Amino acid sequence: MRKIKFGIIGLGLMGREFASAAARWMHLTSMDMAPEIVAICDRSEDAFSWYIDNIPTIKQVVTDYREMLANKDVEAVYCAVPHHLHEEIYTAVIRAGKHLLGEKPFGIDKKANENILKVASEHPEVKVRCSSEFPFYPAAQKIGQLIEKDDFGKIIEVNAGFMHSSDMNPEKPINWKRDVRFNGEYGCMGDLGMHVCHMPFKAGWKIHNVRAVLSNLIPERPDNKGNVVVCETWDNATLMCEASDKNGSFPMTLKTQRIAPGQKNTWYIEILGTKRSVRFSTKNPKRLEEMVYAGGEQKWMIVDVGYEPAFSSITGGIFEFGFTDSILQMWAAYLFEIQKGKPLSTFAGCVTLEETAMSHELFTAALKSNSTKTVSEIYNI
Ligand SMILES: NC(=O)c1ccc[n+]([C@@H]2O[C@H](COP(=O)([O-])OP(=O)(O)OC[C@H]3O[C@@H](n4cnc5c(N)ncnc54)[C@H](O)[C@@H]3O)[C@@H](O)[C@H]2O)c1
Repeated sequence: MRKIKFGIIGLGLMGREFASAAARWMHLTSMDMAPEIVAICDRSEDAFSWYIDNIPTIKQVVTDYREMLANKDVEAVYCAVPHHLHEEIYTAVIRAGKHLLGEKPFGIDKKANENILKVASEHPEVKVRCSSEFPFYPAAQKIGQLIEKDDFGKIIEVNAGFMHSSDMNPEKPINWKRDVRFNGEYGCMGDLGMHVCHMPFKAGWKIHNVRAVLSNLIPERPDNKGNVVVCETWDNATLMCEASDKNGSFPMTLKTQRIAPGQKNTWYIEILGTKRSVRFSTKNPKRLEEMVYAGGEQKWMIVDVGYEPAFSSITGGIFEFGFTDSILQMWAAYLFEIQKGKPLSTFAGCVTLEETAMSHELFTAALKSNSTKTVSEIYNI
């Protein structure tokens, strides 16, 4: 088993998820490459102890990422920092010749994303991909296989979304994710949008235009000192798009919501076609709904999809799959691509640089549509 030595920059919520996935790499049965975390970096020293206590392979602990990038032992980096730092740190990682799995939105705005992509194009020797894990749920993988087989007939409509209720409570103190300076103008689209676009982009569907309605439902929040401060980020976004595949155009609704009553972390996709329709939501992680129509009665079927992921594992096929499993699968996909040079399959691949650019094109058009209350044309998706 070849070990690939990783550094983590940003040791918060997502940094810990990677560390945990790396610690249970033994779960996977088909990998001949494994991550070994040798270096960690956070500007806050408070973040260090959990990592040091749990990961014996760590040899370097720093508050300045430049020191980590100067470390020749570090071959690859996972970077999970606030959005305003993506451009600076991602470009530095790539220039240092390290492979990079960076978090979405891969640049706080379109200009930052373009610069990251420019620097990446100058360093083809490093594998740069963007994190997004939900399509690794087995039921979503099955939907991906059906898309690849072109099994839907003419697509009638697509609805995809990611719904939280993490901002439902108006008393929840503001943090960087609710501050335009650190999270960006996209608001909830920057946070949640990549997850929603991931499968439509991998499907190769073109998006021609968008009419977006963005909502700032809670414009003020308390800060950590109890003062009431302005909260300008968009809480919810509904994007009504005209999309197309080779069979023609269809409406596609993409929703990203941080204030969705009753939802905790619900990612869903629904494809309705003349021959086949499917629905999946992480609310019921085993349940894939399918309807095959060949004339006659219309019957929705419910299939229990068990633990049948893209990258095989020790878990029996009857068991349930969850969020941390999707993170592990995404990491398997990234390491697989570093090693083999290409993804296992279209939908078992991480988000590419081109797909991050498409997301910025879409979210920038959505901001314009919302401010002008008109439809924005899209040319590069
Ligand atoms: N893939 C997913 O499901 C998912 C979920 C949540 C967040 N994210 C993304 O992950 C990224 C980080 O989000 P998070 O929830 O982990 O945030 P977080 O606030 O929990 O962690 C961010 C960490 O970055 C550190 N940091 C800030 N400035 C730094 C610097 N200059 N150098 C080093 N460290 C620095 C902070 O101290 C903090 O520990 C964001 O891009 C976010 O959109 C992805």
